[in-house]
Amino acid sequence: MKKIDVSILGCTGTVGQRLIEMLYNHPWFNIVSIAASERSAGKTYKDAAVNWYLPMDIPEDLRDTTVVDTDPSEAEAPLAFSALPSEIAKEVEGKFAEAGCVVTSNASSYRMEKDVPLIIPEVNPDHLQLIDVQKENRGWRGYIVTDPNCTAIGLAMVLKPIHDHFKLDTVYVNTMQAISGAGLPGVPGLLITDNVIPYIKGEEPKVMNETLKILGKMEDKQIKFADFKIVASCNRVPVIDGHTETVFIRTKEPADIEEVKKVLREFKGEPQELNLPSAPKQPIIVREEEDRPQPRLDRMAGTVPGMSATVGRIRPGFDENTLLLTLISHNTIRGAAGAVVLNAELLYAKNYL
Ligand SMILES: NC(=O)c1ccc[n+]([C@@H]2O[C@H](COP(=O)([O-])OP(=O)(O)OC[C@H]3O[C@@H](n4cnc5c(N)ncnc54)[C@H](OP(=O)(O)O)[C@@H]3O)[C@@H](O)[C@H]2O)c1
Repeated sequence: MKKIDVSILGCTGTVGQRLIEMLYNHPWFNIVSIAASERSAGKTYKDAAVNWYLPMDIPEDLRDTTVVDTDPSEAEAPLAFSALPSEIAKEVEGKFAEAGCVVTSNASSYRMEKDVPLIIPEVNPDHLQLIDVQKENRGWRGYIVTDPNCTAIGLAMVLKPIHDHFKLDTVYVNTMQAISGAGLPGVPGLLITDNVIPYIKGEEPKVMNETLKILGKMEDKQIKFADFKIVASCNRVPVIDGHTETVFIRTKEPADIEEVKKVLREFKGEPQELNLPSAPKQPIIVREEEDRPQPRLDRMAGTVPGMSATVGRIRPGFDENTLLLTLISHNTIRGAAGAVVLNAELLYAKNYL
């Protein structure tokens, strides 16, 4: 398989670093340019990524690579992985797509636009049909495909098989989100240590709206949003990586708890069928212990570390149509870098690149 040249936009941040980790040895993609802000442009990567936070070292052959500007003429490659702040991404990603580049983005700027696919490859690969609509609407030679918010990804993945089998009526989710979700330098240590912050700016609408888009249906070249009710409460907690979510679910059809566990365990999608390099064998891992999942123990779960969501404490609510569960997914892997890498692998395998 011929390797495709790629660029990483926002290569120094928490997600950018994960992208470096997931792409520097990738069987299908070849990093040819790394870009960040004008603060970093012109520096070597080791000097620009001063807040390197991953346990592995910066890959040897990238340490002295020069970071470039986020400009299509500088970061030249047919495929770009974007980990830019959303305020910047709107303009920059649009320019790349206009210049003919395929952009797989982590940013929220385009997620809710009607002609932009918001993809979890196991859940809604058919939404890629929006690519043609987008190119036609905007006259771009390239296009943008987005991944969901880091909390919405784990949630939508776990809700998908439950919705398919028992029809969701109402979802209430309470989150305990890791510090790395706030990017670098992130929440000051003095504010988050020994503390829980019961507010994350802009997060709750993203979790609710994106989940309904992801679980919506493609109809006549647009997405009809899922019609269940959903509310979210989002909290920041002193965990480095891994978002925990406790979820109350009401279904339209009775949901036997053992059946729920079975459909979660058996859930698979196109990434598994196509054997994509970053696809875990089991996207959802079900744990039976009374005290799992836990972020420190379960965030790296899966045959591809960090790419599976772990669910536990699956138990009845107050009648046969209600249940509760706790889930964990890795926010910078399955919730960000791994999500856009899997999206790009899906695009490649389905001849969209
Ligand atoms: N962290 C997560 O768990 C997570 C999960 C899902 C989605 N996301 C989304 O992914 C994106 C990146 O998040 P992050 O947590 O990695 O953020 P971050 O740590 O703040 O990193 C931001 C990156 O963007 C670059 N950048 C900042 N301003 C720029 C500008 N004006 N022009 C060009 N580049 C600029 C930074 O480069 P410099 O070093 O040069 O400033 C850095 O490489 C955001 O849109 C975020 O919402 C994050």
